[in-house]
Amino acid sequence: MALHDNRGNPVSATRQQSIDGYDAALHLLHGYYGDPLGAIDAVLAEDPEFVMGHCFRAALMLISSEAAAVPALVQSVEAAERLAGRANDRERGHIAAARAWIEGDFERAVWLYGSVLADHPRDGLALQVAHLGDFFLGQSRMLRDRVASVLPRWHTGVPGYGFVLGMHAFGLEEMGEYARAEETGRAALALNPRDPWATHAVAHVMEMQGRHPEGIRWLEDSSQDWSPDNGFAFHNWWHLALQYLDLGDHPRVLNLYDEGVRPHASNVVLELIDASALLWRLHLRGASLGDRWRPLADTWAGRVDETYYAFNDVHAMMAFVADGRQAEAQRLLSNLERRANEGGTNAMMTSEVGIALSRALLAFGREDYTTCAQLLLPVRFIAHRFGGSHAQRDLIHLTLTEAATRAGMAPLAQALAEERVEIKPTSPHNWTLLQRARMVAINRRGAEEAQLHSVRAQHTAVSALRALTPAAA
Ligand SMILES: [Fe+2]
Repeated sequence: MALHDNRGNPVSATRQQSIDGYDAALHLLHGYYGDPLGAIDAVLAEDPEFVMGHCFRAALMLISSEAAAVPALVQSVEAAERLAGRANDRERGHIAAARAWIEGDFERAVWLYGSVLADHPRDGLALQVAHLGDFFLGQSRMLRDRVASVLPRWHTGVPGYGFVLGMHAFGLEEMGEYARAEETGRAALALNPRDPWATHAVAHVMEMQGRHPEGIRWLEDSSQDWSPDNGFAFHNWWHLALQYLDLGDHPRVLNLYDEGVRPHASNVVLELIDASALLWRLHLRGASLGDRWRPLADTWAGRVDETYYAFNDVHAMMAFVADGRQAEAQRLLSNLERRANEGGTNAMMTSEVGIALSRALLAFGREDYTTCAQLLLPVRFIAHRFGGSHAQRDLIHLTLTEAATRAGMAPLAQALAEERVEIKPTSPHNWTLLQRARMVAINRRGAEEAQLHSVRAQHTAVSALRALTPAAA
């Protein structure tokens, strides 16, 4: 008789211990707890022919979005493919999905994980990988709808139900359904307060609604649930820093950077992204950052030739530009231009979004703010194609607003700032941006009037001179 995992999914394994180990590793992955890789490696050491173990390991590598993880991803997929003859259809679906990712077709990979889910709606691994895949692909609607499609098949009696609610909460938030997102996130946390993804979904709601004091309390009061021994803690610290940033508390933001977002010289790309994004936002505000860019740019420099995922590359470019690394910045740009002509999903992301954003950052770095703004204006509407959340991509709008203000593009700067204030009127920073944009407009009008006055004065002087000068003979 075929064995099943603890959600009722068929597993081709012959050892129940392997399946139990898989279930435990999946729980770690769902909650970003401990060491899921170590857990599954221990299972595979005992049972090297455990197909779902190899699929799980492949999924872990895939969702890291790291070029450095590709060799391990290939190794796991090849191991699973060698065992495909004894695998069941669900497992073969996982193998095909991970193989598509290796081939650079991220969209097909996510679609294939989704196909597994259609037949096995309680496949927690397929669901989480597809959910994160939707995030990498910027598929906001699928962040919500994919989870919605399987939710009726889950209930409190199924292990991991709370995590599914947490995923749904995030999808609802990315689709702007803030009230339902918060309600669903809180329901997930009622089942498991240590669900960092559900906490994160509610933090996103508070970020998007500009509920800054509440957002700070939300994350600070629960930090003991989501921070200790958690692989996602850096990102929730980042969200807390965003709340303080909007209030203009730069010392607190820097403290959170040092102690939460980047407490160690990590080389984990997801952590590097948040570090770059936070420092760049401070950089836009002209904050003093001490020596923080240098070690971050050093770490990014080791990845300058990867161009694995455009979203990562743009965050590397921020560090290179802000730290004055001309050589690395130009090298990365050249790599991106070459990468855009190669195949795969990332080529699309690079050609449509990554290159324009990188050129805009370079322009900002050389204080060519007009060019920066001109480059960002068209790309802001399609930037979701290279993934990330609305909160992360807001950095593009912030850079555009700052560039337009510094360039003296008064109507544009004012329109962008007014847009921000209209959407999030409780944000003190948005009002600061609007005030600065209005000053640009006032100064420009003043300069125009002064110029007009100067021309009139010259005309008057010339007329007076002519009146005094005897007519030419
Ligand atoms: Fe987030």
